[in-house]
Amino acid sequence: MNELLDPHNQNDAELSLRPQFLNQYIGQVAFKEQLKVYIEAARLREEALDHVLLYGPPGLGKTTLAYVIANELGVHIKTASGPAIEKPGDLVSLLNDLEPGDVLFIDEIHRMPMFVEEVLYSAMEDYFIDIVIGERDNPRSVRFDLPPFTLIGATTRSGMLSAPLRDRFGIVGHLEYYNIEELSAIVRRTAEIFNVDISAEAAKSLALRSRGTPRIANRLLKRVRDFALVKGNGEVTTDLVDLTLEHLGVDEAGLDRTDRAILRVMIEDYAGRAVGAKSIALAIGEEAETIEAVYEPYLIQQGFVLRTQNGRVPSEKAYKHLGVAKND
Ligand code: ADE
Repeated sequence: MNELLDPHNQNDAELSLRPQFLNQYIGQVAFKEQLKVYIEAARLREEALDHVLLYGPPGLGKTTLAYVIANELGVHIKTASGPAIEKPGDLVSLLNDLEPGDVLFIDEIHRMPMFVEEVLYSAMEDYFIDIVIGERDNPRSVRFDLPPFTLIGATTRSGMLSAPLRDRFGIVGHLEYYNIEELSAIVRRTAEIFNVDISAEAAKSLALRSRGTPRIANRLLKRVRDFALVKGNGEVTTDLVDLTLEHLGVDEAGLDRTDRAILRVMIEDYAGRAVGAKSIALAIGEEAETIEAVYEPYLIQQGFVLRTQNGRVPSEKAYKHLGVAKND
């Protein structure tokens, strides 16, 4: 995966850019309004907030929001990742040192093993876990009582979550791509933290090419800041944005080399016929899951790819974008 898009290489500098409270968190307006109410109600009742499921493409701020929720509640947060929780005992040790009302955040919750997921049900519903221990011919069930806690689960694909797990979340937030005003505001906020000057047009130009995604906007800003320092006078201008993005292979629609490779396979190899993520993955040497979670949602949202009953097809806009004539 292109490193601009990769969720696994977040560094401390990136973490320090994160807003700490809801009033600093830009975008996701409707969901934020709901959250404010639920958080205040939980605080007034002195109860744990109901479990929260956050879903949406990578980079839209699911982890950030989990930290913001914990801060707003005034509780601790412990984080884990679905695939790293290999056995029920791992869950017990995660949940055991929570204090009442604390948050457990599980990223990529759809990748938790099924037999761990089943143990989570009673933890979520009634705050206990039953674990079977001992020899195979003499198994014993041991019950662990847990403090009331809030599980915040994040997933890129709600469709991959089992119904019993999904049903146990009382609060569900579908994070959406950010609009240009929101992304511009995020870019300007980050520039202020970095102490770099950026013109309003340059912030907008970056916003337009960030795939609706704050993480990408912030990563692009870092690279433009480097070009501005070395090739300019330190101030981020639209010319420097253009120069930097040309170097990075990001075009005027914000598509990168992989996006364009996907469109090219659809148009040139499949001649515009419906094609599945697996075939595209094979053709361009990328994981099918990455194509479905990262690339396809944005290509669909921007109208480069259309959903049909038989699969995905490239749109007129995709042909135009690649400069290929469409044969009907
Ligand atoms: N940085 C990254 N995402 C953000 C957001 N949604 N609001 C403010 N700053 C951010």
